[in-house]
Amino acid sequence: EQIQYGDDNVLKHLRIEKGEVERALADAPCVIEGVYETGAQEHVYLETQGMLAWDDEGVITVAGSMQCPYYIVDAFEHALGRPSESVRIIQAATGGGFGGKEEFPSGIALHAALLAMKARRPVKLIYDRSEDMEVSTKRHPSRVRHRTGVDHDGRLLAQDIEVLLDGGAYVTLSPVVLSRSIIHAAGPYACDHVRIEGRAVLTNSPPYGAFRGFGAPQSQFACERHMDRIASEIGIDPVEIRRLNLVREGDATATGQVIRDGADRIEVMERALEMSDFRQRTSEHAEFNGSDPTLRRGMGLATFFHGAGFTGAGEVFLDSEVHVAGLPDGRIEARTANVEMGQGTLTVFTQLVCDRLGVPAESVVIAPADTARVPNSGPTVASRTVMVVGGLLEVACDDLRSEVGLGPDDDGGVLLQAVADWHEAHAGQELIGRAKYRQPEHIEWDDESYRGDAYGAFAWGAYVADVEVDLRTFAVRVRDFVAVQEIGRVLHETLARGQIQGGVVQALGWALLEECKWADGAMENAQLTNYIIPTTADVPPIRVDFLEAPYPHGAGGAKGIGELPFDGVAPAVANAVAAALGVDPTFVPLTPERLMDLTLQAAGSEGGAP
Ligand code: MOS
Repeated sequence: EQIQYGDDNVLKHLRIEKGEVERALADAPCVIEGVYETGAQEHVYLETQGMLAWDDEGVITVAGSMQCPYYIVDAFEHALGRPSESVRIIQAATGGGFGGKEEFPSGIALHAALLAMKARRPVKLIYDRSEDMEVSTKRHPSRVRHRTGVDHDGRLLAQDIEVLLDGGAYVTLSPVVLSRSIIHAAGPYACDHVRIEGRAVLTNSPPYGAFRGFGAPQSQFACERHMDRIASEIGIDPVEIRRLNLVREGDATATGQVIRDGADRIEVMERALEMSDFRQRTSEHAEFNGSDPTLRRGMGLATFFHGAGFTGAGEVFLDSEVHVAGLPDGRIEARTANVEMGQGTLTVFTQLVCDRLGVPAESVVIAPADTARVPNSGPTVASRTVMVVGGLLEVACDDLRSEVGLGPDDDGGVLLQAVADWHEAHAGQELIGRAKYRQPEHIEWDDESYRGDAYGAFAWGAYVADVEVDLRTFAVRVRDFVAVQEIGRVLHETLARGQIQGGVVQALGWALLEECKWADGAMENAQLTNYIIPTTADVPPIRVDFLEAPYPHGAGGAKGIGELPFDGVAPAVANAVAAALGVDPTFVPLTPERLMDLTLQAAGSEGGAP
């Protein structure tokens, strides 16, 4: 089966190549192929897209729900030629972005501002839910083809992978989503011969854009379903094929990034198997399936990874800046453009400043993400907030300490007093500690050849789903879910757990329920009555555990966490459904209708009932 695309609609083509794939495939004892597909997904953030705009004595001021205040500053410069001094962007309370509030708010901000300029009065522009769902970006649908050479034990000898993303009608962030998608497409495995071709294409549908995971969930769904297919075709255990191939210390990824981070990916998997009672339950389910007339149960495993921060030299290009001010009233103020949107930025930033300066939380304030007040520390995306921006906060804290003539051994009380004394001596002036991004020395990336260290650090995960399928309805019920990950140092366990559980629920929606129905290039089911997302009734117990291998360049040893959970859920669930029904689903969402078709087809071709 070939991956089809037009000859004039490819908006971005990227390629990764390592070793000699064709020769390794020709020499491989077994070559196993598969094509896998994923669907679109709506973000369903709490509040819809919306902006207020007004002219404040010549400064166009815009406030609204957003992830990236400085993206909007750039948009005003790009679209209207307005210099940044005459634009002020203020983030209002934001209930979740998930990528949907990365680039999309820029357009609405411009529309609201143009109307405000024309009408010479403040303008409020807020989409209702249907308008929002009809026009805002969605997760890119994908089609991914694998052709994999393995030996009889299941060792990966060659991976030939093609990734196709549907970009919809406009370019949006598709090129960078494609980039992250192909970098993760070969999975967390060591293989000497890898070729990954990625294409994003323009089509007649609403534009697709950033969504939690940024293309990696799509390509890792394919990879992890394919690993189970390989295991099944050559007759080995899905756990063993992963144990054999997971990256070990000193192994290299598809881009040639050598992994030496002290994390143990096998241990991450073992912990997930142990917590889920994988072996025991697999044999219990086999017994259950042999006797129950209507229900089928299965266990599914996925192992995966996620790179944090912008790809390659992206963080260098962002050139993020962070300030930590000592205020005249003696408090410490952290100034970044990174936003709170429910994920815990305010809490963790406060904690980082407290820990670094040894001051109590009451002495720390976080400045609002208002471009008139904070420097450009980059967007709140790509699982970068704590790892990258938090790391800059620590450096800025150190700088503040030296600004008042103190060293690392002076305690927080001494610092607060020194801040107060400084203001006595410098009335009316600002006392600011600064930090600018400096790339850690271990990172080397070549954007031409797509080789090198794609990310400063990867987080690693192993997820297990325990599912039950009802043969009368083909509804999938997830009975239990285990999520184990290594994310460097866990800075705030409750928030980290919340990020994982939230990501698992959102990805369960993508895996099982959520379907955008298109008609004549528009979304037919742009209402929450018929675009079905998980409710609490659909959510299984989600049991979370962390392993910690501190990342020396992340704040407090932390790596990124926000997007990681999205990568492991759909493949774990689909692998569990495959085990339950003895079918080989190659797509999500696994809606009852599609699962029934698949199961009946499989039964038909074998001439028996499931
Ligand atoms: Mo984004 S998909 O919030 O990096």
